[in-house]
Amino acid sequence: MYQTPKSHVIDPLSGVMTGATGRYEKKLSELSGIYLDTAAFEAECARRGDDVVYTVHEARPRQDHGDLIFGTTFMEPGRIGNEFFVTRGHIHAVANRPETYYGESGTGLMLLESPEGETKILPLDPRVLVYVPPMWIHRTVNIGTEPLVLSFCYPCDSGQDYGIIASSGGMETRIVADGDGWKAIRNPNYRPRTEAEVRRILATADQQ
Ligand code: PA5
Ligand code: MN
Repeated sequence: MYQTPKSHVIDPLSGVMTGATGRYEKKLSELSGIYLDTAAFEAECARRGDDVVYTVHEARPRQDHGDLIFGTTFMEPGRIGNEFFVTRGHIHAVANRPETYYGESGTGLMLLESPEGETKILPLDPRVLVYVPPMWIHRTVNIGTEPLVLSFCYPCDSGQDYGIIASSGGMETRIVADGDGWKAIRNPNYRPRTEAEVRRILATADQQ
């Protein structure tokens, strides 16, 4: 009746986790529409579109309400034009599901946006735990020159809505190179969500 308690060992450099039940990869060519500089994206894809830019290892013990999904994301360093490599980003399909991220190695940022368009940027350095509260769109950014490895944990009934970012022309903020560092710029393609769109997102919240 009870599940067996388990420990999982995470390699902070590769993101490999013992006891993972799933793994998937994203190639650069699968990230069309994410970056502002589409010409630079096409040029980079022509050069190395088949390169894997991030890999997720995860464990899904059970699908029961109340259980967890946990694992790691390994992100290669790189840029498209001056914009740092990012994950696709999403809001949870059940929008009031939270998540934690923990920095294993590398230098990153968590880029967060509320449905109304408020932005928060939090460092994801090694040994930093970031709490992504319910209702926040989230995406990770590798601002370093080495791979960024993160571990995460979220409720198993969260789901992911990937359309939310594309439907507003990208996130409100983009993270670009600035000398040896980074800066946040406003995304010129961003279209704020209407009140009806915000209501639709908030209505996915499970009120149990
Ligand atoms: O649950 C999460 O937010 C992470 O596991 C992400 O899914 C992972 O980092 C990959 O990002 P994305 O799902 O936005 O492609
Ligand atoms: Mn998530």
